[in-house]
Amino acid sequence: MIQIKHRDDWHEKWLNAIKSNKTIGFVPTMGALHEGHLELIRASKLTCDITVVSIFVNPTQFNNSEDFGNYPKTLNEDLEKLKQEKVDYVYTPSNDDIYTELPILSFSFGRLESTLEGAFRPGHFNGVGIVVSKLFNIIRPSKSFFGQKDLQQVAIIRRLVTDLSFDIELIVVPTKRETDGLAMSSRNLRLSPIERESAPLLFKYLTKAKSELLAGKSWFQVQQEIVEDFKEDSLIDLEYFELIHPETFTPYQEFDSNEKSSICLAAYLGKIRLIDNLPIIS
Ligand code: PAJ
Repeated sequence: MIQIKHRDDWHEKWLNAIKSNKTIGFVPTMGALHEGHLELIRASKLTCDITVVSIFVNPTQFNNSEDFGNYPKTLNEDLEKLKQEKVDYVYTPSNDDIYTELPILSFSFGRLESTLEGAFRPGHFNGVGIVVSKLFNIIRPSKSFFGQKDLQQVAIIRRLVTDLSFDIELIVVPTKRETDGLAMSSRNLRLSPIERESAPLLFKYLTKAKSELLAGKSWFQVQQEIVEDFKEDSLIDLEYFELIHPETFTPYQEFDSNEKSSICLAAYLGKIRLIDNLPIIS
């Protein structure tokens, strides 16, 4: 595995890959790698000749500086995991390599960012849009891999690719979970032992809501019931639990089995904010 620290060092490697007609798969990450990230890497290794992973904790997508400061940094362990997966290149830029200057450009994703994560984390998707555009322009991959775990991020990047005509195929990889159902996340490392015990309830209530919806209960009833369920756990503070269209993120008032839908949630366990989602109709 070759570590690239400066974007100029990638250019020649990229040129060689293109000259020899090799496809480049790209997996952008913020490090603190877990099995969820590794699934994206394995998907890239399966379908692309060359796999590039980036590790960059992007300051512009954190709307909370404490969250940015506390973001886990485990570079040595990450590099070891990537070597074991036989990743070809890892790009570990410094802040200056990405942000030579702070961008004055900003993205508005319209209604896509006025709901859920967009509404609760103002500026977050602008930061994601900026850094992913920069990484796409630097790495110039054929395919890029993203996790369904961050469903609204997938919707945002899909629009970014369409609206800016990036010639990149997006591949969405299903959410990887712990055996108790908790979606893998770098933030799980920061849960206290008792918070970790409550955390599987997020997935448990998503699956409960799904089976009740499919059994014919109204969304109004299901949502009310689940909100009450969550109140019974004193450690979990539910932020939202919504039924949405997975591409436009428009919230539904009623469930319609002829329309694509997913349930998305965000909740605090102590200071740690977790998100999860479950497709209902794909
Ligand atoms: P990060 O949170 O490190 O996630 C990197 C990629 O791994 C994202 O596409 C995310 O959806 C995926 N991922 C995380 N947990 C997963 C799980 N349990 N199962 C499957 N995939 C999972 O998302 C980001 O970084 C950043 O916003 C980034 C796109 C790198 C831009 O800075």
